[in-house]
Amino acid sequence: MTYETLIVETVGRVGVIRLNRPKALNALNSTLAEELRTAFAAFEKDEEIGCVVITGTERAFAAGADIKEMAPRSFIDNFSSNYMANWDSPARSRKPTIAAVAGFALGGGCELAMQCDLVIAADNAKFGQPEITLGIVPGLGGTQRLTRAVGKAKAMDLVLTGRMMDAEEAERCGLVSRVVPLADLMTVAMQAAETIAAMSLPTAMTAKELVQRAHELPLAEGLRFERRAFHALFGTDGQREGMQAFLEKRKPHFNQP
Ligand code: HXC
Repeated sequence: MTYETLIVETVGRVGVIRLNRPKALNALNSTLAEELRTAFAAFEKDEEIGCVVITGTERAFAAGADIKEMAPRSFIDNFSSNYMANWDSPARSRKPTIAAVAGFALGGGCELAMQCDLVIAADNAKFGQPEITLGIVPGLGGTQRLTRAVGKAKAMDLVLTGRMMDAEEAERCGLVSRVVPLADLMTVAMQAAETIAAMSLPTAMTAKELVQRAHELPLAEGLRFERRAFHALFGTDGQREGMQAFLEKRKPHFNQP
């Protein structure tokens, strides 16, 4: 499969998607959104893939939705086509995902990163929801996922002023999992991805689903769901191998063909 706006490759059990519209700072257009769906769907189906990393360039993860493409749209264009309703490929992925973010992650770019399970940021990363400066509001989770991630105080600050925050502030307020020097970004992101991809895939997928549910369920329901999932994993090869390996004082070997 060849892509116009992405570079997609497989490294061991890790799927890597690089946004590739560098001249437009990886602005997200319809082609890119469609290609992301195709790439994520292929990795989702592939049993040899245990984690997906999405990244951009050193200058920009993505500077938001493509303003040139968006500007002429009308309300009825948006409403009729349910514009951007399917720009949620990372959020739909059942496999763990990592956003490796350098440079600008603005608007839809920040929203794309927030759809991922881990956000690993280079020290030059800048996050923001500048939609208000264009006379619009975020449309892909910038008021919802951001508020859940960083709380009302920071979300209001970012969404109402449109200002950017640097990687250090983003880590401090809980948007980012780790901050690393720019030169180490892909090494650290790939190490994290390889670590996750080496775990039992059904266990990792279950762990991801459980943490996601913490945002959606009342505590009692979340705890019940967690306990049932915990019970169920005792029916997997992963549990048998993980515990046997511990007892035999060796490393576990999950996901053997
Ligand atoms: C289209 C964009 C773009 C965008 C940058 N470019 N962002 N094109 N859509 N979102 C293009 C510029 O037009 C320019 O191309 C080239 O990328 C380099 O950008 P410059 O502005 O020259 O670079 P710089 O001066 O370094 O400023 C970087 C920047 C600025 C601060 C990131 O480009 C910027 O403010 N971009 C817009 C950010 C934004 O408002 N994002 C939110 C979009 S709305 P040319 O050809 O002119 O040289 C949104 C809604 C989300 O995301 C809804 C769900 C997806």
